[in-house]
Amino acid sequence: MNIPVVRTITALRAKMAAWRRESLTVALVPTMGALHAGHLVLVQEGLQRADRVVVSVFVNPTQFGPQEDFAHYPRVETLDREQLANIGASLLFAPPVTEMYPAGFATTITVTGVSEGLCGTFRPAYFTGVATVVTKLLLQSLPDMALFGEKDYQQLQVIRRLVQDLDIPVSIISVPTVREFDGLALSSRNAYLSPEERRRAMTLYQVLREVSIAVAAGVQADMATDRARVRVLDAGFNHIDYLEVRDADTLTPLKGHVRRPARVLAAAWLGRTRLIDNVPIPPRSDVSSMDSKANSA
Ligand code: PAF
Repeated sequence: MNIPVVRTITALRAKMAAWRRESLTVALVPTMGALHAGHLVLVQEGLQRADRVVVSVFVNPTQFGPQEDFAHYPRVETLDREQLANIGASLLFAPPVTEMYPAGFATTITVTGVSEGLCGTFRPAYFTGVATVVTKLLLQSLPDMALFGEKDYQQLQVIRRLVQDLDIPVSIISVPTVREFDGLALSSRNAYLSPEERRRAMTLYQVLREVSIAVAAGVQADMATDRARVRVLDAGFNHIDYLEVRDADTLTPLKGHVRRPARVLAAAWLGRTRLIDNVPIPPRSDVSSMDSKANSA
């Protein structure tokens, strides 16, 4: 089986225009390749919701810092193509860097607010790089919808914000994180883990779940995250960039009792591999109603 591949914006637009003439709906799944089950779930969800699914594979240089793994990021186009063909994706858009960033390229998209803190603190160029390339991909293809995983939760909120602010006519669909048997979130970077690190990696998800359960049961967010940091370091992680509870929409930091939809998010290092993950915290309607009764008494 084979999947058609286009490498230029002109060819992508011609394909999109042909589908439009047939009144077909199109979903876009932006990726950096090295596809795993998490990406394939996005494609499957796209196939449920739209007539055609375009997958972009582009290792975007502008979202990597100078000390990061751009040069070593896995590039396995033949494997990616096979997986996409098997699952029934309609088209692969795999442009070279010169197509996305031709000589003289000078425009960036910066989203304030949601891109600050968390990964924004530790990877200063990252969200501008992501916002710029995702805006370009959306404008190049003008799909009906684009699908993103909740694993990169801050990225998802940045993309929602830019689509709203720039009036880009596309629905952003989020899909829950796909996990290994022991809870580790699927990521192309898991391939960097040694067998020993891989065994330890599951603790991150376990600890985030414990925080979620504790905070939903009424434990103060900062107490739960303090305990969690100790647990993560005890499990053999060598460094934690952040482990925090944030508002699920605005990503503003939450301390004390949490009474609205929230998320606990973390980035931590196992050897030379940086893992990120996040888990939802359900709202505590029981506590807020108890509090409001107490306040009105
Ligand atoms: O999540 C990713 O794989 C990338 O950040 C994205 C959204 C494809 C932009 O390069």
